[in-house]
Amino acid sequence: MERTRWYKDAFIYQIYPRSFYDSNGDGIGDLRGIIGKLDYLKDLGIDAVWLSPCYKSPNDDNGYDISDYRDIMDEFGTLEDWKEMVAGMHERGIRLIMDLVVNHTSDEHRWFQESRKSKDNPYRNYYIWRKGKGKNGKKPPNNWTSRFGGPAWTYDDTTGEWYLHLFSRKQPDLNWDNPEVRKEVQDLVRYWLDLGCDGFRCDVITYISKREGLPDGKFAIGLVGDEHFTHGPNIHAYLNELNQKVLSHYDCMTVGEAAGVTLDEAALYTGESRNELDTVFMFEHVTCDTYFQILPRKFSLPRLKKIFSKWQYGLRDRGWNSLYYENHDQPRSLGRFTGDFGTHRKEAAKMLAVSIYMQQGTPYVFQGQEIGMTNCPFDNLDEFQDVLVKYVRDVLGRFEFLIRPIVLNVLRKRARDNARTPMQWSSGPQAGFTTGKPWMKINPNYKDINVEEALEDPDSILRFYQKLIAFRKNNDIIKYGTYKENYPDDKQIYCYERWWHGEKLFVICNFANAEVPFRMPKDLSFECCDLKLHNYGYDRPKIADCILRPYEALVYVIK
Ligand code: GLC
Ligand code: CA
Repeated sequence: MERTRWYKDAFIYQIYPRSFYDSNGDGIGDLRGIIGKLDYLKDLGIDAVWLSPCYKSPNDDNGYDISDYRDIMDEFGTLEDWKEMVAGMHERGIRLIMDLVVNHTSDEHRWFQESRKSKDNPYRNYYIWRKGKGKNGKKPPNNWTSRFGGPAWTYDDTTGEWYLHLFSRKQPDLNWDNPEVRKEVQDLVRYWLDLGCDGFRCDVITYISKREGLPDGKFAIGLVGDEHFTHGPNIHAYLNELNQKVLSHYDCMTVGEAAGVTLDEAALYTGESRNELDTVFMFEHVTCDTYFQILPRKFSLPRLKKIFSKWQYGLRDRGWNSLYYENHDQPRSLGRFTGDFGTHRKEAAKMLAVSIYMQQGTPYVFQGQEIGMTNCPFDNLDEFQDVLVKYVRDVLGRFEFLIRPIVLNVLRKRARDNARTPMQWSSGPQAGFTTGKPWMKINPNYKDINVEEALEDPDSILRFYQKLIAFRKNNDIIKYGTYKENYPDDKQIYCYERWWHGEKLFVICNFANAEVPFRMPKDLSFECCDLKLHNYGYDRPKIADCILRPYEALVYVIK
């Protein structure tokens, strides 16, 4: 099987199924809901869908806790619905990338149910069990913390041992050092590929290999133990094995969620000759406005640009990057990277799209981003649904009331719930998402921000996305061109060039909600110059010194 590396030319749309579209009025998005919106996706021009997990799950972490890898979550439909959905996608030239969540399972997975029964159960070694420390073994085996807060270990009465969970206690970590576990993963990957899926987004894949002996982590604010399981000792061997045994036999793609990945590590994961993953999601740019990856920090454009440029220069010819501002774990990009956009929501959203999608890598757009959905003005802590928020509240316990306004303020900016409010399809009841009671708060701005409105407005964000996606398709400058940044220290303008075989792409983005003077770079000369994308009506035919309008963005092809 020849691997065509089609992902280098694909624009990928992420669906968070619970919040996409509800077909049967129970308030929860589902697969038949996706089927009903396939023409919408086709018209947008995307090439593939990354579908967040739709497997059987008790939904402690909205499907990222899987109890049966080979079947569909009851609320989402059946395997037959899934097959119809894939067929409908393929008919429209859209590929499907499934979420592969194999660092952990649900504690309700049959393997774990067996594993916890006794120390000599055949499934015992599928998970990571250890004796506790202290007199009666009542202290956790080491000091690692869960990514959701608290210890990464839970004590289990039946056998008097602890099991490891880097996420919630309902998400026990699989033991990848056990060859049987790796075989199970290979089998289930093959199962979905044979059913017609075209690739995988590999959930927290950089955590699967833990250091032998599980030593204590060094002291850290927040997350402890990282250095012993992020890019752990056998990670490259395990990924190479999965690739050689299964993935390399299909024309599929993989993208690894790679929190904490450095350039050099990314080159190892995605270097073509290494046969591990095809691409990764790095996290540097989405932590540039945080302290300790949690608390909000003032956004700075030079800091963001430095990260983009580092990755554009650094991964070139060594690997393949992904381009994203949003996903189901991130707050919305509008406001976050643009400051207060006031009356310029549309210009700001279009500018953000230009700023990232003219770079090299595989682009992702998260549902709702294409219509400029925003963070949700949550009124109180009970409105948040995320297990992560429940953990925070647990930790705060009875002191919560003392700092409640501060917590609410931080969560409004940072909570993952911001991305998970239902998709806004129309200005009708429940934003057209459901005829029932939505599982989660709908952003009250749906009356103005919705798909129906965007389809009617020729100047909408959605229409701009369609143009941009069409422009990007089969565009060799964007796909292969070298990258050069201009004015790296400028606090308001992001300006970069891509060139390929005598042609150049010239990108100008004003990140400020204000007029900003722009000077042409001195070394820029050209005979002809074509304005390809502009968020202010295509009225600046040539690159010239000028005053950029608030959030103005321009893309030229020059020769
Ligand atoms: C990934 C997912 C996130 C989930 C976590 C645990 O980070 O994107 O939503 O909570 O893994 O599976
Ligand atoms: Ca439903």
